[in-house]
Amino acid sequence: MWFLVLFSNMSKTRGLKLSVLPIALTVLALPLAVVRGDSKKPKVENLAAFPNASGVLRTFNRNGDIDLSGPFFQSLSGNGRSCGTCHQPGDAMSVSAAHIQDRFQSSQGLDPIFRTNDGSNCDHSIDTTTVAGRSAAYSLLRTRGLIRIALSPPAGAEFEVVSVVNPYGCSETTTLSMYRRPLPSTNLKFLSTVMWDGRESSAQTGTTPINSTNYPLSLNANLMHQVVDATTGHAQGVPPTVAQQQAILDFEMGLSTAQSEDHGAGDLDAQDAAGGPTNLSKQEFFIGINDPVGLNPTNRPFTSVIFNLFDSWKQVGNPHRAAIARGQEIFNTRTFTVSGVGGLNGNMFPGTTSPVPDSLVTTCGICHDSPNGGNHSISAPLNIGIATANDATVNPLDLSYLPRITLRKISTGETVTTTDPGRAMITGKFADIARFKGPVLRGLAARAPYFHNGAAQTLLDAVNFYDVRFHIGLSAQEKSDLVAFLNSL
Ligand code: HEC
Ligand code: HEC
Repeated sequence: MWFLVLFSNMSKTRGLKLSVLPIALTVLALPLAVVRGDSKKPKVENLAAFPNASGVLRTFNRNGDIDLSGPFFQSLSGNGRSCGTCHQPGDAMSVSAAHIQDRFQSSQGLDPIFRTNDGSNCDHSIDTTTVAGRSAAYSLLRTRGLIRIALSPPAGAEFEVVSVVNPYGCSETTTLSMYRRPLPSTNLKFLSTVMWDGRESSAQTGTTPINSTNYPLSLNANLMHQVVDATTGHAQGVPPTVAQQQAILDFEMGLSTAQSEDHGAGDLDAQDAAGGPTNLSKQEFFIGINDPVGLNPTNRPFTSVIFNLFDSWKQVGNPHRAAIARGQEIFNTRTFTVSGVGGLNGNMFPGTTSPVPDSLVTTCGICHDSPNGGNHSISAPLNIGIATANDATVNPLDLSYLPRITLRKISTGETVTTTDPGRAMITGKFADIARFKGPVLRGLAARAPYFHNGAAQTLLDAVNFYDVRFHIGLSAQEKSDLVAFLNSL
């Protein structure tokens, strides 16, 4: 393995005694080439190779090498964490559960990611004085890569909290604990809303919903706001200066991350293919760029052909390349029936004249519509069933490790049980329960597990979810091709 221990906050740790050093270290999964070079500043060379199970991931930084002494990787104040604690270059600027487990082992659970404010399953009645205690307290972070997001229902919400059954304590009904995966802090130009529940792009939090007229100013402002919230929240620090916020924004916005080599298929831009981060950095995007419901500002018609990266591999001899091309074809063209998706079926999008039908024969791209980015090109929180624990026909994934939260609509008495109320915790709307954004689908191979709650341990688990949820009827071969394609993004 290519592990390397780096001082993420060198200036701050210089004076520490050796015995306490592990606490101040951040383990970054970095290739050895990274620290060589002329500069004394620790850095990740531009386009450095980060191996993962399926091949090699790289990040193109339009500002050059990644400076690990920059504010993104510094503990600015607070509990010793930096942005880089949870957003690591080798993990596509998210953090994989496997690497968190490695960090637990090498630091005995003392690395700054292991903090009780939001790293542990619950923040009270836990014992973190022993390794065994920390192992139990941080089990969701170690095994699923989950951070605890604690929010109270907004004032004036249409619902009340009936009960919370949380296996780790934290069953209070005034503050709900939700468990979510760090989203990648890269490929950010594609974002039509910030955070799984869009809370950094919401009037309710004093931030701005992103639309085609205010983009990219709204996105930049939301990300600046997010820097402050992350520092005061995750890092329990004081708000960074405007100059620091701006530096972090400039850094994040310069990054394009993608898988660039595949063990079987080789370079993902060979034979006229267009995989890898440099091609991605040139990809056009604007809000609504390929919107299917009539919200494309240019009125260009929707195409289900979302990805064209591997078109040239359709007829090639290499079986691995051919499999990736077939997987892309399935993503782009395989039809299935989408019904019962909250926020889509029957939903009337503002600015359109008729609601989306209750049932649609469509493709993956109906929700993952951004060309070669794969996220939703407009803000549209959806309930595809990832937080549905009580119906295996909707969601076959194991959610037994998550809480059960039951909410009652005050006006009608109707109740819903979910593992995470999602968007509803921001808007207070009953209809928004368990709705989440459609995320960017790049760098997937480096950042398992998947979905907001880490319920899919592998990309095959994610594909199996869709096969059950939408009765697609994929063969074993088709699943394997789709996984090969997703691994190459
Ligand atoms: C303790 C871990 C942790 C730390 C530290 C952390 N983040 Fe995050 N980050 C997360 C999680 C978890 C989410 C998703 C939360 C959600 O959506 O509810 C997230 C989401 C994000 C997103 C949203 C991306 C998207 O697609 O919407 C950005 C950008 C981001 N973080 C940047 C930062 C920056 C900048 C810092 C430092 C100031 C930082 N993070 C510190 C865990 C962390
Ligand atoms: C009806 C809308 C919809 C359709 C159709 C859809 N997705 Fe998704 N997808 C989403 C949403 C929303 C999420 C995030 C859900 C969550 O975590 O709660 C998501 C998440 C994902 C993720 C996880 C990404 C991550 O960062 O964790 C993958 C992989 C994925 N989708 C692949 C696919 C594939 C492949 C298909 C077609 C077989 C597909 N999706 C069809 C809406 C959709």
